[in-house]
Amino acid sequence: MKKKYLLAPGPTPVPEHVLLEMALPMQHHRTPQFNKIFAEAAEGAKYLFQTKQDVLILASTGTGAMEGCVTNLFSPGEKVLVVNGGKFGERWGEISKTFGLTVVWHDVKWGEAADPKKIASILARDKEIKAIMVQASETSTTAAHPIEALSQLTRDREDVLLIVDGITSVGVVDIPMDEWKIDALVTGSQKSLQLPPGLALVCLSEKAWSFADQSTCPRFYFDFKKERKNLANQTSAYTPAVSLVTGLRAVLRDIQDEGLSNVFKRHDRLARATRAAIQALGLRMVAPDCPATSATGVFVPDGVDGGKLVKSLRDEFGVTLAGGQDQWKGKVLRIAHLGYVDTFDIIIAISALEMALKKFGVQIQLGKGVAAAQEILLEAY
Ligand SMILES: Cc1ncc(COP(=O)(O)O)c(C=O)c1O
Repeated sequence: MKKKYLLAPGPTPVPEHVLLEMALPMQHHRTPQFNKIFAEAAEGAKYLFQTKQDVLILASTGTGAMEGCVTNLFSPGEKVLVVNGGKFGERWGEISKTFGLTVVWHDVKWGEAADPKKIASILARDKEIKAIMVQASETSTTAAHPIEALSQLTRDREDVLLIVDGITSVGVVDIPMDEWKIDALVTGSQKSLQLPPGLALVCLSEKAWSFADQSTCPRFYFDFKKERKNLANQTSAYTPAVSLVTGLRAVLRDIQDEGLSNVFKRHDRLARATRAAIQALGLRMVAPDCPATSATGVFVPDGVDGGKLVKSLRDEFGVTLAGGQDQWKGKVLRIAHLGYVDTFDIIIAISALEMALKKFGVQIQLGKGVAAAQEILLEAY
């Protein structure tokens, strides 16, 4: 027998009561009963996004909503600035290019955060740029970009949008959509929302909706105006992911019960505990100056094959963490601490890492990382 633990940055574990809720018999989606569930989920999503605007619930993964932001807000030939500090930043640019936009790549070294001053000077030089596209948490590098500072560059300009991929940030850290005047904010179900993959949530500012009036990109499925119209009637344009939406309503109720500020505090404590453990073990973090709260990336010690380490953790120890991507393949592992994750999940992750490293011949004092994490985790008790 081997028990399994999921500590990757998505999909994340799903609470038992949410699984049960989603296992209820299928119901038809064009009914007053399901309309109520859909409307309650959409209302709960407003709380999550800290907005008065509509939050669209789409049957797709997060990338679908990213694509929808591009196709609903811009026109072929328009110029957008893409913060490219990892795989997901790259994705903003790839989607934009696919639909004929002109991409101004702003490359950021992996593991570092975008510099708002540099972006301000690019925007000042090039008045044709219509948007900044960025990740709040670049999951591939576990670096956080400074969204509030970036929002200062766009909030007083009618001609530039701030488009934020919050897929591993919404419900993890404070990103008040309305207060910061973010123009588009996206998340997905399989991260902090503690659900299986398959839902994307997206919210637009009034300014972004006015861009949507001008946009001429081709689109069909991801038509935000059509979705907004349907949302007003408590439904979606096409068949909603009935079970996932039912689960979403349950999770959003839980988040409201816990209170967003407590949700943020919980994630912050887990992230700090993980970082403290990594430091105590003498390991090197990949984004020490701008660590994301969703996941902590660590360079594997010299001489250790990170791919084999992640595989051993998963297949022998039963603990799924994530490895590195692209240039960091085999060199990095990522411990996630978002969603349905609490104190003892972190203890398991750190303890398993210590044991696996020791098995791989690394000089590790067992328990040192766990003890450092415990000191911080204890804050909650
Ligand atoms: C920051 C970020 N953006 C985008 C994505 C892509 O989301 P999806 O796989 O749900 O399409 C992910 C997935 O891990 C992510 O972490």
